[in-house]
Amino acid sequence: MRQQIAAANWKMNLTYQQGEQLLDGILNENIELANHQLAVFAVPFPYLTLATQKVSGRKNYLASAQNCSDQKSGAYTGEVAAEMLKSINIRYCVLGHSERREYFSERNQSLAQRVALCLENGITPIFCCGETLSIREVGAQEGYVETQLMESLFHFSEEDIRKMVIAYEPIWAIGTGKTASVGQAQEMHAHIRNLFAKKYNKATANHIPILYGGSVKAANAKELFHSPDVDGGLVGGASLNATEFSSIIRALK
Ligand code: PGA
Repeated sequence: MRQQIAAANWKMNLTYQQGEQLLDGILNENIELANHQLAVFAVPFPYLTLATQKVSGRKNYLASAQNCSDQKSGAYTGEVAAEMLKSINIRYCVLGHSERREYFSERNQSLAQRVALCLENGITPIFCCGETLSIREVGAQEGYVETQLMESLFHFSEEDIRKMVIAYEPIWAIGTGKTASVGQAQEMHAHIRNLFAKKYNKATANHIPILYGGSVKAANAKELFHSPDVDGGLVGGASLNATEFSSIIRALK
């Protein structure tokens, strides 16, 4: 079975102490994960070591960064390189989140560089894509997401592509309480998988986990994750509550 992933995206929330409490709350639930299931915590940079320590020894629980630089190293004040993440044993990194694209002007080309640097350092990119409300309203979401994937990912080899995780996050559903319907999510996930099948092949497309993001919560996780092409979620708001996120982990296929 394809990997199924519950990924928490804390964004710029919680103090160190609150973060520690939240991790303890979730880990104390002792939810056992099957071989194909993962629980990933994308925490702010200063908490990565804490998160790594907390999940160590827990099967398939992992810490993730929320971003990394598009440069290898050097005079880039305030940036964090993929190699630095590797040096503290981080194996996952969210890339191209819509908030990074919108507020920090991250473009498809720069994201392609970040993906390459992650792969060079043995880090799995959780690559985000998704359309705005205005694009959805004119029905152009399929082409829009195709361009995002084409410009950032489709020049990678099949071997590299198989190391990636995709997160489809319709921007109109992020932090708005407005979730895409199960039908809308499944339709876009199937479309994305089909793009990988056309560019690479069916086996590769079937191998790649595609997560849904946008107001996932305990109350809707099971229904969303039940869709054949939805392989878990990238969860913002609801990942900040131990009870909510624990239920989301339990909702994995
Ligand atoms: P949300 O955020 O769950 O709060 O909508 C999801 C995300 O931005 O990754």
